[in-house]
Amino acid sequence: MSIPLPPILVVDDERNMRLSLESILTAEGYRMEGAASAEQGLNCLSQGEFFMVITDARLTGMNGYDFLGKVKAQRPDLPILMITAYATPKLAVEAIKAGALDYLAKPFAPEELLLAVARCAERYRLLRENETLRARATEAYSLARIIGDSPRMVELRQLVETIAPTNATVLILGESGTGKELIAGALHSLSRRRHANYTRINCAAIPENLLESELFGHEKGAFTGALKQKLGRVEEADGGTIFLDEIGDMSRSLQAKLLRFLEDGTFTRVGGNEELKVDVRIIAATNRDIVEAIRQNQFREDLFHRLNVVQFRPPPLRERGEDIVLLAEHFLKNFSHSLNKPGCAFSPAARQKLLAHHWPGNVRELRNAIERAVILETKEQIRPESLPDFEVEARLNRPNTEPPSVPGAQTLEDAMNQYERELIMASLERHHYNLTRAAEQLKISRHSLRYRMNRLNISSDALLEDEPPPGPLKELARH
Ligand SMILES: Nc1ncnc2c1ncn2[C@@H]1O[C@H](COP(=O)(O)OP(=O)(O)OP(=O)(O)O)[C@@H](O)[C@H]1O
Ligand SMILES: [Mg+2]
Repeated sequence: MSIPLPPILVVDDERNMRLSLESILTAEGYRMEGAASAEQGLNCLSQGEFFMVITDARLTGMNGYDFLGKVKAQRPDLPILMITAYATPKLAVEAIKAGALDYLAKPFAPEELLLAVARCAERYRLLRENETLRARATEAYSLARIIGDSPRMVELRQLVETIAPTNATVLILGESGTGKELIAGALHSLSRRRHANYTRINCAAIPENLLESELFGHEKGAFTGALKQKLGRVEEADGGTIFLDEIGDMSRSLQAKLLRFLEDGTFTRVGGNEELKVDVRIIAATNRDIVEAIRQNQFREDLFHRLNVVQFRPPPLRERGEDIVLLAEHFLKNFSHSLNKPGCAFSPAARQKLLAHHWPGNVRELRNAIERAVILETKEQIRPESLPDFEVEARLNRPNTEPPSVPGAQTLEDAMNQYERELIMASLERHHYNLTRAAEQLKISRHSLRYRMNRLNISSDALLEDEPPPGPLKELARH
């Protein structure tokens, strides 16, 4: 993203100085406007957009420091570079104290000036980019994006509208692909916090040992590799909303720290002593069976109650059959537009096939199926052949009363092993090689799943989150 730079405002009562600054800056491609006094400078600022101000400390009339104070009051984000007569630490401190981002002592080399200006240009670009991204993130989520006319979805949208403007902590429980992330985003974008940051953390995607420092930050030297102080994502979200996705996967020790944070917004960075406080609204979500996780001592009950102030439960797609066609039509319209295949429609048989499926992957699975069909289909009509073969999922979710046909199996033992192997592989694939989730779905313990995988020679290379990562990361765990 390249954002064009507005000009630089240069305030100096010496004409020669303005001219020499102008020649250095314009040679580098910057645009510049000059003002001969602080008063004139303030006038320029009220009329146009600038990305920075360069001012001399000593000006006739209003001096540079007073000018700086006035600019800061009006435009707190605008970087100001102050030019002082001599390089004395006292003057430098004064300039910075008065709100200058940087200072230059006369005489200075053109490169020094250009370096300082480049830093301000970078800062301007970052600030603008952040604003744009923030606006886009808020735009991207809205109530209208949550599609569904079934009574439960209508009710859900109403609840989003009611709860969004409050500061209530929200817990979203639902199967994978039911729209938890959409709900969280809509809650933020309809809240009074919508102009502040919306920060999303996927607790399952960040290694357990690093999650605390990601959330709450760390001090320099807190652990091997902590070369600099790092602010936590909760600080980034100050004034806004933080969405803790997959909270069911958070370790118990971090759950305790999160509980404290939820009580009063206070936390300490990893390796730090200072107690910090922010104002953040928390939305948490998980697709795990949270009650089962509490029973198995994997999730703290007190944290559950703290999070569970308002609960959303987006229903699985199979429980709102009337939404299947509506959603399918919506995705068909979107994909046929973006893939440049206008006029695509479902054949009656394809519609039937969509309605007959169980949709274990919910709306995400439906969305992917439609995208694939639009890509594959060469005719104007989407035929059932262009939809995925829902066989594997159907077998996984509806116990088959027909004896499975296992080609190539000689004995009952072989056939059973082959069938078991297929089911385990399909479940692992579906849960992106997450052992805990696959075990949960198959209703066996992780230990038992591992044992079976060993027995059936299923490689565990692709498994996620099984053992904690080795090496220096372990150090973090002590903090
Ligand atoms: N009601 C809905 N209307 C339109 N699109 C939806 C709806 N629900 C889900 N989707 C779409 O389905 C996909 C999955 O939704 P989302 O990421 O919100 O699911 P999730 O519940 O967070 O799943 P997971 O637990 O796997 O993270 C997204 O592309 C989302 O836009
Ligand atoms: Mg999600």
